Amino acid sequence: MNSAKENPIGVFDSGLGGLTVLKEISKILPHEDVIYFGDTARVPYGPRSRETILKYTFQAINFLLTKNVKAIVIACNTATARALVEAQSVYDVPIIGVIKAGARAACKYTKNLKVGVIGTEGTIKSKAYNTEIQKIKKDVEVFAKACPLFVPITEEGWSNTDVAKLTAKRYLKELKDAEVDSIVLGCTHYPLLKRTIGEEVGEEIKLVNPARETAYELKDILVSEDMENDKNDEGSCEYYVSDINERFSSIAKEFLKKDIENPKLVQIHKFNKVRIDGFKEE
Ligand code: DGL
Repeated sequence: MNSAKENPIGVFDSGLGGLTVLKEISKILPHEDVIYFGDTARVPYGPRSRETILKYTFQAINFLLTKNVKAIVIACNTATARALVEAQSVYDVPIIGVIKAGARAACKYTKNLKVGVIGTEGTIKSKAYNTEIQKIKKDVEVFAKACPLFVPITEEGWSNTDVAKLTAKRYLKELKDAEVDSIVLGCTHYPLLKRTIGEEVGEEIKLVNPARETAYELKDILVSEDMENDKNDEGSCEYYVSDINERFSSIAKEFLKKDIENPKLVQIHKFNKVRIDGFKEE
């Protein structure tokens, strides 16, 4: 018997955006227990430097490993773009991000080979989506647009307000003008704005959410490593945050459509066990 089977999955994001990935994991792997960490004290990651994102990501992984997770999902595009490769080279536990999955989903869908990608400044600047999409389908043209205000709008619980609508109108005009047939929601916060974004771009443009494809990728890994949880009961989820605020619970309940356990506070800056080049331990 493989003891890792009963261990939880670690899921991490800068805030509550990773809940959009957690939701898909719960559907596709309903028997898995999950430890969710949202770095609510330090959101947003989008405008921060690569060194800072590396440091935050390593701290999050170090914390999740104290919970004996058997695999980790970096449910944050910015952290995936800036730190996935480094994390995979340092840790033994399987670690996946969300960008390859998003690129695959977009390439499956596009017919006119014009794909829009929206994300944080960090994700867009890294060109990680362009690289992954063109690895899969060389002739796809990628139109990328950073939409930094979308994160604070969702964290504020304003996803379906006039502020969100006006912001979406301004950001998405150039993708509509470019006649993309699909837009990758390249930030895990953005599915929370799906209705507003969808109304702005219209039904003819498909909104691609990398979360589902990510959950399938996780499932494939668990199956191939013989690490799927065999229990029949529904998996549980424990929530941890680096700053307790009421919005996390209320938005999480509304989005996941269920009551959630109160999040517990983590002093995340203390989880500096792994030294990496590019930042100094405090
Ligand atoms: N949800 C995150 C992402 O997917 C980051 C948002 C942020 O912290 O800026 O990129």
